[in-house]
Amino acid sequence: MGLATGSTPLPLYRELIAREQAGKLDFSRVRSANLDEYKGLAPDHPQSYRRFMQENLFDHISIKPENTIVPDGLADDIPSMCRAYERKIEDWGGVDIQLLGIGHDGHIGFNEPCDHFPVMTHEVKLTEMTREANKRFFSSIDEVPTAAVTMGVGTVMAARKIVMVITGADKADILYKVFFRTGHAGGSGLHSAVPFRHVTLICDEAAAAKMPQEGQLNAAFRALRTQSKI
Ligand code: F6R
Repeated sequence: MGLATGSTPLPLYRELIAREQAGKLDFSRVRSANLDEYKGLAPDHPQSYRRFMQENLFDHISIKPENTIVPDGLADDIPSMCRAYERKIEDWGGVDIQLLGIGHDGHIGFNEPCDHFPVMTHEVKLTEMTREANKRFFSSIDEVPTAAVTMGVGTVMAARKIVMVITGADKADILYKVFFRTGHAGGSGLHSAVPFRHVTLICDEAAAAKMPQEGQLNAAFRALRTQSKI
């Protein structure tokens, strides 16, 4: 599985924990690769994504520690760590299900909007918008790292199935822009996701508020259905 951090997947992680505790799921043979990590944060830093995953999922399910990977934000040689990360995913047979959230600017993982996305896992400079959005977890904006390591859009799109979850009124604009406003998606990390038939979008009513109304929706869906599952 490819896993994400952030507020969006938290209810899903709580549900996965509850289902394993109820005997309905078994994570003992599951392997997971996370999308991203802040550069410069140690794995046990309260805001590191490794720690987030431990506290919100891994510590509560039967997944084996050696079967969970998160990019190493402290690596001395980031490019070679990134290559090793890609190799590990490949050795494991690739990602079956990739879970994605989306940033307000359309980023997936930490792939910020741009014209040309690095395909593989790479270091990225964070935009001020993303740092602003994430400062709620830090005591001040100055403590938010300025760089991160993220799977590339190619790594993400290589997954056999992608489940994108978009929730909350603050994501209504970006959901509309990425999926329904022709031309916009070119600037978003998702531009590559939309044409893939293996993408499933799950959203709540608040995030869906700006989606076209029923009649228009049918037309929009017809256009998208051949490519993606929404
Ligand atoms: C985190 C990640 C990010 C988040 C995005 C939305 O691993 O990949 O792209 O999915 O920043 O974050 P939330 O869910 O907090 O709104």
